Amino acid sequence: MKFAVQPTGTPVDAEARAEILANPAFGKVFTDHMVTAEFSVAEGWHDARLEAYGPVSVDPASVVLHYGQTVFEGLKAYQQPDGGVALFRPERNAARMAASCRRLALPEVPEESFVEACKLLVTTDKDWVPSGEGASLYLRPFVWATEIGLGVRPSDTALFQLIASPSGNYFSGPLRPVSLWLSQEYTRAAPGGTGAAKCGGNYAASLVAQQEAIANGCDQVVFLDAVEHRWLEELGGMNIFLVMDDGRLVTPDVSGTILEGITRDSIVTIARELGHEVEERKVDVDEWRKGAVDGSVVEVFACGTAAVITPIGALRWPGGEAVAGSGEPGEITMKLRKALMDIQYGRAEDPHGWVTRVC
Ligand code: PLP
Ligand code: COI
Repeated sequence: MKFAVQPTGTPVDAEARAEILANPAFGKVFTDHMVTAEFSVAEGWHDARLEAYGPVSVDPASVVLHYGQTVFEGLKAYQQPDGGVALFRPERNAARMAASCRRLALPEVPEESFVEACKLLVTTDKDWVPSGEGASLYLRPFVWATEIGLGVRPSDTALFQLIASPSGNYFSGPLRPVSLWLSQEYTRAAPGGTGAAKCGGNYAASLVAQQEAIANGCDQVVFLDAVEHRWLEELGGMNIFLVMDDGRLVTPDVSGTILEGITRDSIVTIARELGHEVEERKVDVDEWRKGAVDGSVVEVFACGTAAVITPIGALRWPGGEAVAGSGEPGEITMKLRKALMDIQYGRAEDPHGWVTRVC
């Protein structure tokens, strides 16, 4: 793809921008520009451009509105100590979006074009990258089906778009352990389904379970597998790790029904380098419940691009609760969080070449 650059004539003024950047929420405000590219079966990808951020016009009969043919990604740009900006493992997001597109019968965005689009938007809207601890510019690439018609078949046309939002912590306020509701009724993904794809429908299907979690006084929902209702899978938008009393880390393996998190993968690598054994395997929820009581599970945390590493406090279900360790942010959780963030913010060596300097 070749991106035409059509800068906005009406950027947000510096004072208003500074006010937004001083206290960014998550995903509420967007930068001056966005990237759009169009796809048709006849022409392939074409008309790729960087342009002013703004609404798009959608025909009410567009495939995406009826059949949910859409995928997305999430990655962040981090301000570096010298004032430059870097992306974290963008090629992994590019590959994952291509895989999601294949699963949803959408056209794949070439991986190098995905990364180029991210670099172009970040470079253009560099002044929107916030500088506070834990703050970043969250990038949201997505592909959606635009063909008009109600026949159930893959859309012949699609849009690739990329927007950016200055963001603080996903969970508002200072870092605190979040509580999880163990969904009894709902599952997130079944074998053969779309659990490993980052498609809109997975998130739509999680919302009622998330509502149930909130109604039961919890922050987030955690899902079990769809077949036996026994094995831990993940949260609505995060992977999960247990920390054992001997320093081992345990996390559900990627078996097709969970999203293969890039943060998860990075933590597996970092933890091993710090001397922890890491087991990627099926994890029985009772291992957590019993381990919280007998002391064998000492910490639990969730991880993802938006959530970084977030400590988990209580696990609750109808009539019961388990709290691993003290319920406060654990030592190993916080050590891994710092190690990961130090790489992302350019404060530590990057031995794996995870950081892509943009400007
Ligand atoms: N699981 C789900 C369902 C997600 O939406 C996300 C967020 O992207 C993750 C896990 C974590 O993935 P990553 O670390 O690549 O952001
Ligand atoms: C992310 O961490 O990037 C996510 O996509 C999670 C959520 C905001 C959907």
